[in-house]
Amino acid sequence: MQSTDTRGELPARLELTDIGVRFGGIVALDDVSLRVPAGAVVGIMGPNGAGKTTLFNVVCGFLRPRTGTMTLDGTPRRPAPHRLVRHGVARTLQGLGLFGGLTALENVAAGAARSHRAPFVNGLLGLPYGTRTNRAARTAAAALLDEFGIGAYAGALPPALPYPVAKKVALARALISDPTLILLDEPAGGLDSTDIEDLRTLIRQLPTRGSGSRSVMLVEHNVELIMSVCDHIVVLDFGKVIAAGTPDEIRSDPLVAAAYLGGQEAA
Ligand SMILES: Nc1ncnc2c1ncn2[C@@H]1O[C@H](COP(=O)(O)OP(=O)(O)OP(=O)(O)O)[C@@H](O)[C@H]1O
Ligand SMILES: [Mg+2]
Repeated sequence: MQSTDTRGELPARLELTDIGVRFGGIVALDDVSLRVPAGAVVGIMGPNGAGKTTLFNVVCGFLRPRTGTMTLDGTPRRPAPHRLVRHGVARTLQGLGLFGGLTALENVAAGAARSHRAPFVNGLLGLPYGTRTNRAARTAAAALLDEFGIGAYAGALPPALPYPVAKKVALARALISDPTLILLDEPAGGLDSTDIEDLRTLIRQLPTRGSGSRSVMLVEHNVELIMSVCDHIVVLDFGKVIAAGTPDEIRSDPLVAAAYLGGQEAA
C-alpha cells in the first residue's frame, strides 16, 4: 500500500468516499466524503434526521452502504461490528449499550476481552474471570473507573448506575482496548452542563491519552461542545455534506446557520 495518497498527504486513519445509503425512498446519505486524520478530533453535526447516526452505523459496520468506500490507514476495509476492536476501532453508541447482567467493572473489562482475543462470550455469559488475561482486564478496568472518578460504582449493575456514570462506563469500555480510532455517537446526550464540562475535558484528552496518537469521530447535537473540542467539523443536512472546515469556518458559514434555523432551533 502506498504511504501517501494522491494529494501527497499521509493516509487518514479513516477516510470515507462517496458514501450513499437509502432506506426505501429516503436518501439518508448522499455521496458523503470525509477524512479523519491520525490524532485529529473530527465532529459530525447536523439537524435531526441529517444522517449522522446512519454515517456512524456505516463506519461501525452495522450498515452496508449502497455506494462508496471506506479505508482505515489507507487500506479499504469495512470491519464487521464484532471485529472493529481488532482494527483498533472502538465506539460508544447513541444509547448506553451496557450489558445488563454485568457489573460496571465487568462491562469495562469486557471491552478489553475483545481486544485481547479472549473468548468474548465468556464475559457475556458471566463465566468466571479466571484467566490471566481476564485478571489483567479487570485490573485495567478498575484503574479506568478510578481515573474517571467512578470507582465506587465498580460492583454496581447498569440499572443502578446514575445516567452520567453509565455514560462514563460506556466510554471506559471503549477506551480499555486502547483504540487508535474512537467513534462517539451523541456522548453528551442526556447530560447536564456539569457532566458536559467533564466530558469536554475527557474528549480533549483522548488524542494523546493511552499508548499513542488517537483519532476521534464525534457525532454530536451539542453545537457548543463540538465547536470546542473538534479540529475539523463536517456538517450534514438531509444526507449531504453542506459544510466542512474548522470550528471558526463552520460558525460563520451561512449554509450551516440556515440548516439550523430551518431545523432544530426553530422547533
Ligand atoms: N432504519 C431506518 N429505516 C428507515 N429510515 C431510517 C432508518 N434509520 C434512519 N432513517 C432515516 O434516515 C434519515 C437519517 O437518520 P439518522 O438517524 O441518521 O439521522 P441523525 O442525524 O442521526 O438524527 P438525530 O439527530 O435525530 O439522531 C432520517 O430521515 C431517518 O428517518
Ligand atoms: Mg442520531
